[in-house]
Parts: sequence; C-alpha cells; structure tokens
Amino acid sequence: MQFRTIRHGTVDSTSERAFASIADGSARHGDVHVADAQTAGRGRQGRRWHSSSGEGLYASIVLLPEVELSAAGLTIAAGLAVHDAVARLGLKNAALDWPNDVIVRDVNDPTSAKLAGILVETRGLDPRAPHYVVGIGLNVLQREFPEQLLSERAVTSLRLCGCDATIEGALDALVGELPGRIDAIRSDPKSLARDYLSATGLLRRRVRVRSGEGAFEGRIESLDIHGGLVVTNGDTHARTFALEIVREITAIRGDEEVE
Ligand code: BTN
Repeated sequence: MQFRTIRHGTVDSTSERAFASIADGSARHGDVHVADAQTAGRGRQGRRWHSSSGEGLYASIVLLPEVELSAAGLTIAAGLAVHDAVARLGLKNAALDWPNDVIVRDVNDPTSAKLAGILVETRGLDPRAPHYVVGIGLNVLQREFPEQLLSERAVTSLRLCGCDATIEGALDALVGELPGRIDAIRSDPKSLARDYLSATGLLRRRVRVRSGEGAFEGRIESLDIHGGLVVTNGDTHARTFALEIVREITAIRGDEEVE
C-alpha cells in the first residue's frame, strides 16, 4: 500500500476530510489525513473524540480496495495494527477491548484505561467501487485529560504510560503495521483472528458476552471473521455469535486461563 500523508492544521474531523476527498474524486487508496487538532472528532456510538491540539494522533486512512472487505475483518485488522504499533513504540502491556479499543490494564487495579479508539466507516457502499475510512485516535503526549472525559471512563496516553514516543513516530509505527493486517483480511484471516484473540487476552478465559440477544457466559473457544465468535459453556453448550451482534465482552474476574 502506497501511503500519501495529507496534513491539516485544525479540522472538523480527519474522517470528514477523507470522505470529502472521496466525494470530490481526489482520494487515493492509502491516503492518510492527519490533523493537529479536531473540533468535531467523532467516536463510536455517536461519542466525541477529545482532540486537543498537538497531543494526540488523529488520522484517517482512505481505503479504496478492488473488492469489498469484511466489515468485521477491517475492524479487527485496524485494531491489531494500532495494538502492534504501540507495542513497536515500546508499550508492551496494551490490549484490545472488543471490538477495537486499545486499552492499558493496570495489574494492581482491575480497571483499564483507554489509549486509542478506531472508527471504521463507509457511506453508501458501492460493491463495485468500495471505499472505507479508518479513523484512528491515539493519545500520545497528554499529561492530563478534561474532567468531563474522565467522568465517562479512564483514559491514558503513551506519555502517561511512560512511553517516550512522538506523534510522528506513532504515525510511522501505524503505517508500518497497517498494510500487513489489511492484506491478511483476505490472505490469512485465520492468523488475523488468532492474533486478535491473543491481543485481547481473552482466549479460553471465562467471559460474559453481551449481544443484541442478551448476555451469555462461557469460555471463548475461537474466532472466525466470517463464521463468528464461538463461546462454550460446559462441555456441551456452545454458542456462535455473529460478530456484528456482539456489543461487549468482559472477563469474569478470578478466572484462570485453561491450558
Ligand atoms: C472510538 O470511539 O473509540 C473511536 C474514536 C476514533 C477517533 C478518530 S480521531 C481521527 C478520526 N477522526 C474522527 O473524527 N474520528 C477518528
């Protein structure tokens, strides 16, 4: 994938700029829209993304693949790329939280703090000319966050985790990891799913899966981008969840991994 970086100062949202370029025909596969700050940074589920000037990586990547990509595959691939990028920057205890929040767990504290978030979008997808915008927000240099944000959930930055990375370094690490993971959606979905589960730390752990159909407790057995998430409860009871309906997966505490 050939990346082309398009730099913005303060913008509404890098993902909006990416969509605008797709709409006016100037977009290329691999364009990366990066901003210093966003005034209307968007998160998942209608939330806002705190985008203070010069403190975070705010990037939206345009994908114009020849064929349609699996939405679940893209969500997982982008999450893994960010997870691996922060590992490349020296942060070894980051994990993925369903579907693709990058979090940092404190061993002495059961809560986790969010380090990065990803929003994969498409608008009126034409299967003959598919397009996607992968928006990535990664907290890099923040020493503190607004109270209002902290009242919603714990958040952290690379700097607060003791990782001495720059925003530019974070962008380099990200573009280094992304192509391989995106290629794997089609070329090696099994490895992608395996690496994803490994990055969540949830394989064979006792979990509670919340889906559109209620809550289910069991152990995660496997993940298949097309086939779904298989969770077993006892020897006989297995349930397969289509990835689109899974809302939340939480570890049940006090559980040991089963080898
Ligand atoms: C989430 O809610 O976890 C996803 C957050 C995604 C934020 C990024 S920042 C760059 C891009 N532009 C946006 O408006 N949102 C994404």
